[in-house]
Amino acid sequence: MQGAPGGGVGPGPSPVDRWTLLVFSFILAAALGQMNFTGDQVLRVLAKNEKQLSVLRDLEGLKLQKVDFWRSPARPSLPVDMRVPFSELKDIKAYLESHGLAYSIMIKDIQALLDEEQEQMFAFRTGARSTDTFNYATYHTLEEIYGFMDILVAEHPQLVSKLQIGNSYEGRPIYVLKFSTGGNSRPAIWIDTGIHSREWVTQASGVWFAKRITQDYGQDSTLTAILDSMDIFLEIVTNPDGFAFTHNKNRMWRKTRSLTEGSSCVGADPNRNWDAGFGMPGASSNPCTETYRGKFANSEVEVKSIVDFVKNHGNIKAFISIHSYSQLLLYPYGYKAEVAPDQAELDQVAKSAVTALSSLYGTKFQYGSIIKTIYQASGNTIDWSYSQGIKYSFTFELRDTGRYGFLLPASQIVPTAHE
Ligand SMILES: *[C@@H]1O[C@H](CO)[C@@H](O)[C@H](O)[C@H]1NC(C)=O
Ligand SMILES: [Zn+2]
Repeated sequence: MQGAPGGGVGPGPSPVDRWTLLVFSFILAAALGQMNFTGDQVLRVLAKNEKQLSVLRDLEGLKLQKVDFWRSPARPSLPVDMRVPFSELKDIKAYLESHGLAYSIMIKDIQALLDEEQEQMFAFRTGARSTDTFNYATYHTLEEIYGFMDILVAEHPQLVSKLQIGNSYEGRPIYVLKFSTGGNSRPAIWIDTGIHSREWVTQASGVWFAKRITQDYGQDSTLTAILDSMDIFLEIVTNPDGFAFTHNKNRMWRKTRSLTEGSSCVGADPNRNWDAGFGMPGASSNPCTETYRGKFANSEVEVKSIVDFVKNHGNIKAFISIHSYSQLLLYPYGYKAEVAPDQAELDQVAKSAVTALSSLYGTKFQYGSIIKTIYQASGNTIDWSYSQGIKYSFTFELRDTGRYGFLLPASQIVPTAHE
């Protein structure tokens, strides 16, 4: 595909503006009561063996709601990244040292990165009235993304329409963009981004995909051939409540915002809530963890809305659910060790995909089944879509491998989406 939308990236703000922006974003952050991450760090631990991994798993229980694993203990070959609040740093570092675990500091001060992110958003806030002047190289709020969708639909009414597939727990509309050149219930490709709200590069990539599809139709032969016989459904903000919360209160929020009776902890993990191995190991029954599976399969309306849509449609052929970070391309299963019946083909497809991907900027992705490549994860999205007969079910974990993690600088949005 050719002709990437770069999008209205002017020169940076002048030094004087820079201070004004900084002051404004501070005032806004304080006024909204946003969580302050000053002095909080992300530590990376390389466990040497299973025993050291279990020491790290114990830490999860010992410091519930204090340590936030960005990459959970999985296998000795994979690093473990954890966000530690300033107040816990001394304790946690002492714990690691006492168990002979070496660590490095990946992010020295999370708030410093958040301040840069906010400043960048402020500097490029425009209120674009066309998708050509929309800035794809900055992060956007829920309102801005919803506004973008309406403009895109208005510009290409023959190609794009907006469907509402439900309402979130807190009542926000859940939208899916449909790209279609006609026909009746054509076979379709499903793509979702942002089911984990803090993975901001994914929603930003979704916006870019949408623009790119409209640009490439009639220009790029592959995309044109696809849209001449298939539809594409794209859900950009799959967890709107969580996404709004990441902007207004807590940038690090991952889950939904549903309440659980008898617990003061909020939200369930919408990537553990699907009806595929639900409740098996590889998810938590504790509402205070980041991988809380929810009360029952499909308890989260954000999940149920997709389930209903996909079942009603009945002709989805590929299902791609997009996360960050780690640079992985994964296929079923996650909930069991058994090999998927289509493993050989899925592995070939994944291999071709990561080869094509790295031809752009040299970025390396690993690939394989979820359970073998990372860890057991039950109730995940693509195990469910695969169980519905959608053979080409994949999950991406986009950039990076942990230098910035969920706080990927906005300058990397377009290349990441391009990949
Ligand atoms: C966050 O906390 C730090 C240190 O306590 C303080 O200096 C800074 O002004 C706070 N930032 C905001 C936006 O409240
Ligand atoms: Zn995720």
